[in-house]
Amino acid sequence: MRIEQVSLGERSYPVVVGRGARAEIDALLPREARRVAVVTDAGVPRTLLPELGDRSVTVHVIEPGESAKTLSAIESLCGQFSSAGLTRIDTVVGVGGGLVTDVAGFAASVYHRGIAVAHVATTLLAMVDAAIGGKTGVNLPDGKNLIGAYWQPCAVACDLDALDSLPARETRCGNGEMAKYHFIAREDLSALALDERIARCVRIKADIVAADEREGGSRALLNYGHTFGHALEAESGWVLAHGEAVALGLLFAAHLAHRTGRIGAERVEDHYGVVHGLYDLRPPLPTGLAIDALIASMARDKKALGSLTFVLDSDRGLEVVRGVSETDVHAAWADFTARNA
Ligand SMILES: NC(=O)c1ccc[n+]([C@@H]2O[C@H](COP(=O)([O-])OP(=O)(O)OC[C@H]3O[C@@H](n4cnc5c(N)ncnc54)[C@H](O)[C@@H]3O)[C@@H](O)[C@H]2O)c1
Repeated sequence: MRIEQVSLGERSYPVVVGRGARAEIDALLPREARRVAVVTDAGVPRTLLPELGDRSVTVHVIEPGESAKTLSAIESLCGQFSSAGLTRIDTVVGVGGGLVTDVAGFAASVYHRGIAVAHVATTLLAMVDAAIGGKTGVNLPDGKNLIGAYWQPCAVACDLDALDSLPARETRCGNGEMAKYHFIAREDLSALALDERIARCVRIKADIVAADEREGGSRALLNYGHTFGHALEAESGWVLAHGEAVALGLLFAAHLAHRTGRIGAERVEDHYGVVHGLYDLRPPLPTGLAIDALIASMARDKKALGSLTFVLDSDRGLEVVRGVSETDVHAAWADFTARNA
C-alpha cells in the first residue's frame, strides 16, 4: 500500500493507494463519528463499499451521469442525512468516481454547515484527480461546477480493485487527466507501473494543492485542457465524458498556444504524440458544435474573470493567460477541427 500525504496543516490527510485500500478507510474516519452516510451512484459495484466497523451505516444512491450533478441532488442528500440522524460529529463517505466525490463532498460541506467526508475513489479519474484536493460542486444549466465549495476530505482511498470492473471508456477518461499531469510535470507517467503512476499523479496534485489550496496561483495549472474541455462537455450535451473532453482540450490548447506565438509547430505535434500515442486517447469530436457557442461557454468559465482565460504552454512551461482574443480562438478552432473533425 502506498500512502501520499496532502499537507494542509491541521486539515492534512492521507491518500492510500493500492489493492484493497478501501479497507483502510474505517480507521481514518473521525473516531467520534457514530453514523456514516455512504454516498454512491447506481453504476458503482456494491462490492466496493467499505466495511465500516460497528458504526451505523446508511447507503444513499444517486443517479449516475453528469445530468445528476445538480443542486436538487444536494437537497435530496441533505434531507436523507437528516432522516438518518446524522449530526455534526458524523461522517459522509463518497464511494465512486468524480461525480460521486464532487456531489458527496459538496453535500458534506453544507450539511450542518460542514461535516467530515472521506472518499473511496472507484474510477481512475477520481483516483488521480477528482477525489483529491477538496474541490466539490454541482453544475448549473449555464456550465460545469458553477456552484461548489472547497471542502477537504479527511482521507482518500484509491482502491485498485475498483479498476477491474471499470469500463474501458472510463479508464481512458482517467488517462485524459494523466496526460494533463504529463504536461504539468513534464514527466512520462505512461512508463510507470499503474500503482506507481496513480501514486505519482496523487503526489503531483497534492503538492500543487498544498502550495495553493484556493487557486490563487499555481493550482490553476491543473485546469490545463479544461477551459475548452468544460465548454465541449456542456455544448455537446454531455455526450463526451470529462476525461475525453480534457484530452480534446489539451489538443485545442496546443493549437491556441501555437496561434498566439507561444509554442512552435513541433510542440503541437508533441501534444498529439502524448495524447494519441502515449495515453491512447482519440475521442471523436462531436458534430454540430459552433465555435461562437463554445466561446460563450468559455466566457462563463470560473477561470474567465472578465476575459477569455486559458492555461497555455510556452518555453517556460504552462502559464495562465488572460485576455485571449476571440480571433485567436477562431483561428485555433480552424486548425483544431482540420485535424480532429
Ligand atoms: N473535484 C475535482 O477536482 C474534479 C477533478 C476532475 C473531475 N471532476 C469531476 O469528476 C466527474 C467525472 O468523474 P469520473 O470520470 O470518475 O466519472 P463518473 O464519476 O461519472 O463515473 C463514470 C461511470 O463509471 C461508473 N463507475 C464508477 N466506478 C466504477 C467501477 N469501479 N466499476 C464500474 N463502473 C464504475 C459510474 O457509475 C459512472 O457510470 C465530472 O463531474 C468532473 O467534473 C472533479
